[in-house]
Amino acid sequence: MRVLGIESSCDETAVAVYDEIDGLLSHRLHSQVAMHQAYGGVVPELASRDHVRRLLPLVREALADAHSDRDSIDGVAYTAGPGLIGALLVGAGFATALGVAWRKPALGIHHLEGHLLAPLLEPKPPDFPFLALLVSGGHTQLVDVAALGSYRIVGETLDDAAGEAFDKTAKLLGLPYPGGAALATLAEHGRSGQFVFPKPMLDRPGLDFSFSGLKTAALVALRGRELLGTIRADVARGFEEAVVETLAEKCRRALVQTGHKRLVIAGGVGANRRLRERLASVVMAVGAEVYFPRTEFCTDNGAMIALAGCLRLKAGQLHGLGMSARANWELGSIGV
Ligand code: KG4
Ligand code: ZN
Repeated sequence: MRVLGIESSCDETAVAVYDEIDGLLSHRLHSQVAMHQAYGGVVPELASRDHVRRLLPLVREALADAHSDRDSIDGVAYTAGPGLIGALLVGAGFATALGVAWRKPALGIHHLEGHLLAPLLEPKPPDFPFLALLVSGGHTQLVDVAALGSYRIVGETLDDAAGEAFDKTAKLLGLPYPGGAALATLAEHGRSGQFVFPKPMLDRPGLDFSFSGLKTAALVALRGRELLGTIRADVARGFEEAVVETLAEKCRRALVQTGHKRLVIAGGVGANRRLRERLASVVMAVGAEVYFPRTEFCTDNGAMIALAGCLRLKAGQLHGLGMSARANWELGSIGV
């Protein structure tokens, strides 16, 4: 079974070919970051138009890289949501049309399911069941994953997502959008303990998160100070440590509470080096194992969508001509 995967939910156009036996055969990606940077964030209409321009050439390239054509592809998977509706519609329309022309099923995939299955692209994939920490620009959730399509949210953010907090704080520090990775690089030069940020929701039981207070704490820390390199780096370090400690402690609690022995990390913030190191030691201390996608598959990509499509096709899911695109879509409600 071989699936072409298409991701276009936000500011990356990404295409990949995944084969049930041979694994990932190709993946191509075009990032729109440079285009949106001038505006300090994603401009939805520009995103949609750029997906229209990029999609067909990327599909051609990904198929050629994978030595595949319409005859060897068994299905087309696309991100159906959640995301920017115009951007989603480009991918959904394209994939559905391709499915009709090729007489192959076109499957709408939940973007977050794609993220949490991404570690299955790696040489040592986790088995089901597992606990997943989804940390992206739009979501921060702890998910109890019993099997493909069986997702129970056990904790989530009450306000900002972790990636959103990284991006907003990065902006305060004068870093360009999207600032998460740049803030992490700046934090490498910062000193631990110079600025101690609150660790939200750690003082009470439960698995929910709250990150919106951190950008305010950063604003207060920076107020009245000259934005010198060392101070910016120290603030970045203090902020990153607060987020990482919070995420690590909630993962520890969730592992103990659910009894899971495997923790999967997914989503853009999963690329954060300090988070990866901290989680590795926390998970070891409770006798569990941690699974990360490689860094490039933490952020949005087509490989995770092709993989999810392949698993769903194998599980017997066959969509007809219906096309689906949803800006909002609860992960817990999707089923198999
Ligand atoms: O999963 P993703 O590519 O897109 C969404 O579905 O949201 O995640 C993007 C988020 C952004 O907020 C970005 O700043 C953050 O992931 N991010 C990072 C790092 N790399 C990307 N945050 C912290 N440290 C990083 N190294
Ligand atoms: Zn994403």
